[in-house]
Amino acid sequence: MTIHSIEIAGIRKKFGEQTVLDGIHLNVAKGSVLALLGPNGAGKTTLIHILSTLFPPDEGNARIEGHDVVTARDEVRRLISLTGQFAAVDEVLTGYENLIMMCRLSGLSAAQARAQTAELLKRFDLEGAAHKRVKAYSGGMRRRLDLAVSLVVRRPVLFLDEPTTGLDTVSRRTLWDMILQLKQQGMTILLTTQYLEEAELLADEIAVLNGGHIVASGTAAALKARVGSEVIELRSSSDEVIRTIPTDGSVQHVRHTLNEIAALYPADSTITLRKPSMDDVFVALTAPQQSKEASLA
Ligand SMILES: Nc1ncnc2c1ncn2[C@@H]1O[C@H](COP(=O)(O)OP(=O)(O)OP(=O)(O)O)[C@@H](O)[C@H]1O
Ligand SMILES: [Mg+2]
Repeated sequence: MTIHSIEIAGIRKKFGEQTVLDGIHLNVAKGSVLALLGPNGAGKTTLIHILSTLFPPDEGNARIEGHDVVTARDEVRRLISLTGQFAAVDEVLTGYENLIMMCRLSGLSAAQARAQTAELLKRFDLEGAAHKRVKAYSGGMRRRLDLAVSLVVRRPVLFLDEPTTGLDTVSRRTLWDMILQLKQQGMTILLTTQYLEEAELLADEIAVLNGGHIVASGTAAALKARVGSEVIELRSSSDEVIRTIPTDGSVQHVRHTLNEIAALYPADSTITLRKPSMDDVFVALTAPQQSKEASLA
């Protein structure tokens, strides 16, 4: 039997007249990574904040390791770490000072705080920048410090809200490695992202949030399968992608599609057949014209 560290049942949340979450159901298996994928304003941060007990849902409930986020708030807070979308570290302090402060606030003695800080600075590759003010940190260094600060106390469940947004490729990769290490140590991680590549690389399961609903969930492979087994990509003579068309890859369907393309596009257009990317899946699943019924089918 799968044990779920995070159970979300029927969560709804409105801000004024705007319904942001409209009945979210989701489970995250213990020790696994779930990526919540969604465009700007989809409600990813709102859901993370509800799960982190920062505010309650209007309806529905959520449990962390069996504890309700509303009625057992203190227990839940002892089980989770949160790295928010916006930095929670003090810019005027150095990385070292931020970590020491968090360690002391968490109840460690001065000696324990120094030891823990030294270990985290090492683990997150921040030893060289330890005594610089955070104000002078690069985006990647800040995110690593954010993550280090949230891991001052070991907790079984970690929420990461857009851990790599705005980072360059190298910093992103470094952070991915660090997240994968946390996963290997058995942490249950729920992360939000707008990057399909990130979701595919880090997550055991992906849930796509759009229009207040989870419009699809499953492994990257299963989601890709929903878009068709192959994608026909049509390019102009200047090599720009004009259209992508999902297909089951059968001769019959490909021939039919090519006939349509031939009638509509210039004769010097070229086509390639490729496997669907997560981007294709994302576009297909979050397209505004898609009805709720169709997307849940
Ligand atoms: N405290 C609030 N009061 C009013 N509206 C809010 C509040 N917090 C969020 N919203 C609205 O709820 C919607 C969802 O916001 P949320 O921050 O959860 O989205 P998101 O998926 O995290 O987006 P992003 O990718 O930009 O971080 C947005 O339209 C936002 O304006
Ligand atoms: Mg957000």
